[in-house]
Amino acid sequence: MRIYQARDYTAMSRRAANIISAQVIYKPDCVLGLATGGTPVGTYRQLVERFQKGDLSFAETRSVNLDEYLGLSPHHEQSYRYFMQTNLFDHIDIKPENTHVLNGLARNPQAECEAYNQLIRSLGGIDLQLLGMGHNGHIAFNEPGDDFGLETHLVDLTESTIQANSRFFEKIDEVPRHALSMGIKSIMQARRILMIVSGEEKADIVCKAFRGPVTRDVPASVLQLHPDVTLVGDEAALHKLVEAGELVCG
Ligand code: GLP
Repeated sequence: MRIYQARDYTAMSRRAANIISAQVIYKPDCVLGLATGGTPVGTYRQLVERFQKGDLSFAETRSVNLDEYLGLSPHHEQSYRYFMQTNLFDHIDIKPENTHVLNGLARNPQAECEAYNQLIRSLGGIDLQLLGMGHNGHIAFNEPGDDFGLETHLVDLTESTIQANSRFFEKIDEVPRHALSMGIKSIMQARRILMIVSGEEKADIVCKAFRGPVTRDVPASVLQLHPDVTLVGDEAALHKLVEAGELVCG
């Protein structure tokens, strides 16, 4: 695993955008696995800037997103489809038909998940998967205790995730209780993984995930078993990992 420590959130976002840009330049028709949450916003902003400067094109790139809330329409401001449109897709030259986000209004969630697994296979798998991490170590919406052997599936969100994500909604009752999410198996099948972490509140869980045992109690710990993981974090999120003796690059 490679670990890059960036000074602050902006530097972390720039470093992550460098890695994604390199992937797109190296393989223009690559499949990017994309993430939502607060952490990737700066990374997407950097990618948009590079596109606007004419340094990067996504004209051939395909994308698959990690997850979506069940019950939210793509036009709902807190849906992950809306997030992706407003933070990235609407500002770059990716073709709309090449962007894929699970349908939160699917009548048959099970069938939607199976179709998504099939879609990822038909695209040839994910070249680079971007990930954030929840405070309890969740990746996508794979919560502590979830089976590592699952592909895309229906998830019951934990109280701690509902609480953490309530900051984006007016009232906590508005936060959906369920989501559709790629599973750990889907994520582990990506050829390369790029995890980004920011802020002191992630320092303990980052340490547990990358220095502690591989356990279902900390879903992100499974990444220790993946052959090509890059972790990019700011000093606040990584300092405990550094103090514990993990080797990091500047
Ligand atoms: C949500 C998303 C995850 C994301 C996590 C952390 O639960 N489903 O994919 O990693 O939030 O979000 P943040 O980056 O805001 O800390």
